[in-house]
Amino acid sequence: MDKKAILEAAENFVKEKLAADSSGHDWWHIYRVTKSAEKIAQMESANEFICTLAALLHDLADEKLIGIGNEAAGLTKIGEWLRQHGVAEDDITHVIEIIGTMSFKGGNQSAMKTLEGKIVQDADRLDALGAVGIARTFAYSGAKGQLSHDPTLVPRENMTAEEYRNGKSTAINHFYEKLLKLKDLMNTDYAKELAAKRHQFMVRFLEQFYEEWEGKR
Ligand code: ADP
Ligand code: NI
Repeated sequence: MDKKAILEAAENFVKEKLAADSSGHDWWHIYRVTKSAEKIAQMESANEFICTLAALLHDLADEKLIGIGNEAAGLTKIGEWLRQHGVAEDDITHVIEIIGTMSFKGGNQSAMKTLEGKIVQDADRLDALGAVGIARTFAYSGAKGQLSHDPTLVPRENMTAEEYRNGKSTAINHFYEKLLKLKDLMNTDYAKELAAKRHQFMVRFLEQFYEEWEGKR
């Protein structure tokens, strides 16, 4: 299979796997991350094939999709799929290394080893920022039965992974607990540029939100 055909097959594979998912890992998240990863790869002169393939597959071994403790089995399945579709062994190793590093969260993620890994991680993080990031946050909060905002619930500091997933919080608090920290975690220059703009947009959103809350605007 040529690279274009492999990417098309990977796209169909992911769509099929995510069709039944209700954990917020929908195809359109993958679509956006893949578009961003392609763009960053061009700007950073990275291997576009690896970035696109890893972006397409990046959530398939995620604990939220396949259950905590099943990440390794998930990775094995992805490796088998890549082999069946004639991806070169070096490329399989590289893609699996990227997805593996992104999937095993264990509180803090370990650093990505290659430029392509850094790019896919940046693309995934960018999707939590800006207008799309705001929309995803309120959608996630609603699905979890949380309020948009409760001024008496202060943002939590230094949470464990368990508290982060299951503690009581709000959509607005999620900005302080995660989203506003992301711009300083970007790896590549181009993603840093995009993240800074999306960050600014979220800051403006919050300012307007608080003013409306108090009937000032
Ligand atoms: P990731 O795997 O990148 O950490 P998640 O699957 O945890 O992303 O989250 C999916 C989306 O929901 C992201 O946009 C994220 O910012 C948002 N989200 C995650 N946790 C919360 C939360 N506690 N409250 C509101 N939004 C959340
Ligand atoms: Ni993702």
